[in-house]
Amino acid sequence: MENKSGISLYVHIPFCVSKCTYCSFCSFVPHDDEMAKYLQNLIKEIELVGKKIRKSVFSIYIGGGTPSVLPLGAISQIVEMIKKCFDVLPNVSITIEANPNSINLDKAQEYYACGIRRVSIGLQSASSAVLKTLNRAHNWADFENAIKIVRSVGFEDINADIMLGVPNQSMSDVVDTLEKVIALPITHVSAYGLILEEKTPLLDKVQSGEIALPSEDETVDMYDYVVDTLSKNGFFRYEISNFAKVGFESIHNNNYWARGEFIGVGLNAYSFLDGEHYQNTNNFHAYCKKLSENHLPKEQEEKENPITAQNETIMLALRTTRGLNISKFNKKFGVDFCKKFRNTIDKLIKNDLIVLEKGFLRIKNLYISNSIIVEFFE
Ligand SMILES: C[S@@+](CC[C@H](N)C(=O)[O-])C[C@H]1O[C@@H](n2cnc3c(N)ncnc32)[C@H](O)[C@@H]1O
Ligand code: SF4
Repeated sequence: MENKSGISLYVHIPFCVSKCTYCSFCSFVPHDDEMAKYLQNLIKEIELVGKKIRKSVFSIYIGGGTPSVLPLGAISQIVEMIKKCFDVLPNVSITIEANPNSINLDKAQEYYACGIRRVSIGLQSASSAVLKTLNRAHNWADFENAIKIVRSVGFEDINADIMLGVPNQSMSDVVDTLEKVIALPITHVSAYGLILEEKTPLLDKVQSGEIALPSEDETVDMYDYVVDTLSKNGFFRYEISNFAKVGFESIHNNNYWARGEFIGVGLNAYSFLDGEHYQNTNNFHAYCKKLSENHLPKEQEEKENPITAQNETIMLALRTTRGLNISKFNKKFGVDFCKKFRNTIDKLIKNDLIVLEKGFLRIKNLYISNSIIVEFFE
């Protein structure tokens, strides 16, 4: 759901306990005083950006990397600074990402006390063999313990990330992982199909034949199983990879899928505001240097291209189960969507691939959404 009156705020924490073999996110294992140095500069950036933004913040997402690797006290310092420098709405939704083995009781208490109410924990799989190939630094017992800890301090809105189609994974691993996840007090699941990213050790190993992935058919079966099992257990799918119990959809991600405005602070963070895109540098030293000189660490800035904006709006909306709100789209872009795409819509409806009802256009089988979405691109 789009929030018309405000923006969401993303805070990037680029540190991890170890680097997973598949991951191309801007994150690394910190040395010496890098965390303290980063925190100091991030706080400065929050102050500088906050002074310039006049819009209210309805959602804050502290992601990474792994925010829970920061030492005790760091997260509440960040949240307090945001509350001081931005117009944060009283009912703001605040999420933090954590790894099973970097969260403890003291940190969980700190997060809850500073107003964070949603926690997202990366599990990926309950199988130790799968976790080992991915170079994950935890096992199932660590995850179970992390859930126990966050529940004990009051968290009720808890997401688990899982991955499908990863090396060494079989259907029985997925069945086992879901059975275990469903038995815990978890309210949201993100199930991501593996993306083999450029310049990752996993891509090298797959390309050299050292590691094999499950076949496309096996991965499709895993996805179908996840969709079916989660829906039987009260999790409804609201986006291609996201499943929530009633009332537990991610407010932050819904804004992103509705192409709402957001500000990103931190290394490599991306912003979209007033029709402009910005991105911070991904160079740690340049980031710290700029801020220590009281300059913002922005690297790229570009005006929104109307065609890209239309295509992105269609793509993001058609990945959700609600679909594209046609009247909203027409109003925003000054077009008549149904007239413009009449032939495409007729063809896709005839082939039973899309549904047009109550003012929304949606894709029937989200697994093949990419091939349908491109039919609406200019
Ligand atoms: C950026 S991580 C942050 C959370 C935390 N660092 C963790 O890994 O537990 C968010 C999620 O993105 C997913 N992810 C990262 N790289 C991926 C890839 N190449 N393909 C699919 N999913 C990926 C993982 O499920 C991960 O939990
Ligand atoms: S998946 Fe998460 S824990 Fe692993 S390297 Fe990426 S950000 Fe770090």
